[in-house]
Amino acid sequence: MKTALITGITGQDGSYLADFLLEKGYTVYGLRRRISTYNLENIAHLQVDPHARTESFKLVYGDLSDSSNINRLIDQIKPDEIYNLAAQSHVRVSFDVPEYTADIDALGPLRILEAIRESKTSIRFYQASTSELYGDVLETPQTEKTPFNPQSPYAIAKHYAFQIVKNYREAYHLYACNGILFNHESPRRGTSFVTRKITTSVARIVRNKQDCLYLGNLDAKRDWGYAPEYVEAMWLMLQQDEPEDIVIGTGETHSVREFVEHAFAYAGIDIAWEGKGIDERGVDKKNGKSLVRIDPYYYRPTEVDLLLSDPSLARKKLGWSSKIRFKALVEIMMQHDLGRI
Ligand code: NAP
Ligand code: GDD
Repeated sequence: MKTALITGITGQDGSYLADFLLEKGYTVYGLRRRISTYNLENIAHLQVDPHARTESFKLVYGDLSDSSNINRLIDQIKPDEIYNLAAQSHVRVSFDVPEYTADIDALGPLRILEAIRESKTSIRFYQASTSELYGDVLETPQTEKTPFNPQSPYAIAKHYAFQIVKNYREAYHLYACNGILFNHESPRRGTSFVTRKITTSVARIVRNKQDCLYLGNLDAKRDWGYAPEYVEAMWLMLQQDEPEDIVIGTGETHSVREFVEHAFAYAGIDIAWEGKGIDERGVDKKNGKSLVRIDPYYYRPTEVDLLLSDPSLARKKLGWSSKIRFKALVEIMMQHDLGRI
């Protein structure tokens, strides 16, 4: 049976990938960093107790900033596959902490690649690359051949990671590949990302725990898919004869505004838009109450306006395609947050 090391185990994707690999019979090691408060909600169902480790799922401490730790873990665990999902993953935040973002998101993968190279083993490596690399897009839809034009410290750090993975593949013949994943969401998505912020806020508004939802750019468009489907694509990318960088997405794009409308509609509220720019408001058609307002804090110094994938290669090479589309995704997330709050 195979052994996998997943970095970013406490995050959305790390937790779904652990579920997926455990189901396939893998032994899974999840790398968590030391923090002061409990952050194991996404993997709580795996009954994680550091003192009562299960046979097939184990947590280990580590940090992508520390290469001695990464080397030691790889030496001890001897994984067949490493999935590097750990990152400072918030685009807006990367403008506030650009140097930290570069350390973790660019040099982190380099540290793992070096450890693999030094280990002289045939560990297969998956890097969580991103549609943010396309940035101010130079072509629509975006494919594996579309040139990158990143627009944030996050995307530029991930661009370095993309290129260093490619370089180590070519220079040292490592089985290393980049999954160029478009946005994917779920009930386990962090609440600072726009989809989950919307679904938690709408649920709180409906339950009278919050008055209004404050957002930034309502007209940004994203290719949003369902995260549990995307972790299968990560795994498939490590099961091929040859490593290859592949786009994973739905092939549909929708605006933040549409997401808001559908989320409120699910809760029985029809939203009408009034005003322009930072004065725009989303009001309840029934009573005129302002439920959505603009807060310029959420604008980004440089924005990515439109992302839309062409996932043809994933279909052809991996036999993978997304099934849960936009409306169903909003419903899954709304159902979860309404149930929770
Ligand atoms: P996420 O929920 O934000 O999870 C990020 C994970 O990285 C968390 O487990 C976090 O741990 C960990 N982490 C952060 N800094 C670390 C460090 N210095 N050392 C070790 N671990 C660290 O992100 P996600 O949505 O699951 O995304 C997974 C990966 O895919 C990320 O690399 C992201 O950039 C990339 N990606 C995501 C999407 C998407 O739409 N979700 C699309 C394309 C690419 P803590 O819990 O301790 O913070
Ligand atoms: N977070 C956030 N909060 N975004 C907002 C808000 C708000 O209040 N209002 C509008 N937006 C807009 C952002 O400006 C952006 O255009 C869009 O909503 C999506 O923002 P996020 O959900 O934060 O995601 P992202 O697209 O910037 O980044 C995510 O997807 C990338 C893949 O394309 C992250 O998961 C990245 O890690 C990932 O690489």
